[in-house]
Amino acid sequence: MSTAAAWPHVATPLPGPKSAELLARKDRAFSGPLRDGTNVPLVLGRKYGHILEDVDGNAFADHLSAWGAMPYGAQPPSVRRAVMDTWDRYGMEISQYLTSEPPIELAERLVALAPAGITRVAPTVTGTEAVEGAVKLAREATGRPIILSFLGQYHGESTYLTASASTDIPGNTAGFAQFVSGLIQVPYPQSFRSPFHRGPGPYDHTLYLDYITDWILRYQVEPDQIAGVLIEPVAGEAGILAPSQAFWDGLTALCKKYGWKLILDEVQTCLGRCGTVFAAERWGLEPDLLLVGKGVTGGGQAVAGVLGTEEIMADCSAHLGGTYAWEPAACAGALAGLDLIADGSVLANTMELESIALEELSPLVDRFDHVGDVRAMGAWACIEFVSAPGTVDPDPDFQHAVHLAAMRRGVLAISEASKPLYRMQPPLTMEPDLFCWSCRQIAEAIAEVTTG
Ligand SMILES: Cc1ncc(COP(=O)(O)O)c(C=O)c1O
Repeated sequence: MSTAAAWPHVATPLPGPKSAELLARKDRAFSGPLRDGTNVPLVLGRKYGHILEDVDGNAFADHLSAWGAMPYGAQPPSVRRAVMDTWDRYGMEISQYLTSEPPIELAERLVALAPAGITRVAPTVTGTEAVEGAVKLAREATGRPIILSFLGQYHGESTYLTASASTDIPGNTAGFAQFVSGLIQVPYPQSFRSPFHRGPGPYDHTLYLDYITDWILRYQVEPDQIAGVLIEPVAGEAGILAPSQAFWDGLTALCKKYGWKLILDEVQTCLGRCGTVFAAERWGLEPDLLLVGKGVTGGGQAVAGVLGTEEIMADCSAHLGGTYAWEPAACAGALAGLDLIADGSVLANTMELESIALEELSPLVDRFDHVGDVRAMGAWACIEFVSAPGTVDPDPDFQHAVHLAAMRRGVLAISEASKPLYRMQPPLTMEPDLFCWSCRQIAEAIAEVTTG
């Protein structure tokens, strides 16, 4: 497929006529939240390189990368070949019962890449299952019941643990969270909208550790009842919040002091999103359990899992997996993805995208009253909108209007109508000029919405 003319262009109103027809069918067929066609008013027709094309022929710069699950562009040839060849050879297989070489090699290579101390792997299909599995493992290893987690994080879509922890969209947990026991949640560190102060920061993130030690451990739970700390190294759905080194040092010290297992949810950050293979590397973290998903697929088929230490995983009885976990073709695609990231040019490109985001988007805070904060890390950038300058009052309506205006200019990024957060999550391999052009389109979209 030629990508010579692969530059964004939008020629119809959104949705275009074919998209509108399919969205109406979608509305009739799917359940509640999936019926909405206003957030993304188009239907995908095909994709190539770093471009998404809708069924009406409009083309958009891809700032979704399948929510991070497609890190190397639409159809990286080596991943495609590996998936197809392996499927031709083995077909679908339940690897946890009848294994083959691809899952074994994938486990070995992930362990070799992981931070010090990680020696073993438990396969899952989704990130959600990896989170749930890690909780089982931490509880089994410690014999303790409680998981300490952080408000505003996202860990997936299940009815037990993650339903209550998935608080990135206010209201998501209504009717579920109160039935989940064994969880204590504290605010996730951030500098912009700290729950302990009014108005914008910056604040020292060790405040959040003081809250754990001075309040939670004093009034709510004994330290020896806590099995593990479940935390994203960078909170993605909460808008690319990156805790400070001081926070991580303090949290690690608490884990050591009290025997808590550090469960790092890298489902969204693993395999390069933050410019390092694992985000853990940016702060020198050595988790006891490390969760992978999304980027680890290489853009092929579903692969996720829990990596962990010898002590926790060598002789555990907690069983993870399932029919589709690490079927051979998915593992082969993931292995081809590992080859791609081993060539340092992908991570170098990721860091170039970070520099462009900071250079192009940071000045928007001073330029526009409604831009409250800009955060970027690796191939990840977030603009947080506020209703008035100098405040932290969220303005999801403004955000959503910017998202629609950016789409009309050919940029499709991540926007949820109830949030003030607009997020760019391109493939790690996006060409710097397309990324830079996209940032400028977004700035123009903000100007358009500002002037009405
Ligand atoms: C940090 C984090 N953990 C877990 C999950 C759940 O992964 P999955 O959608 O594969 O179940 C996600 C998904 O976005 C995530 O961002």
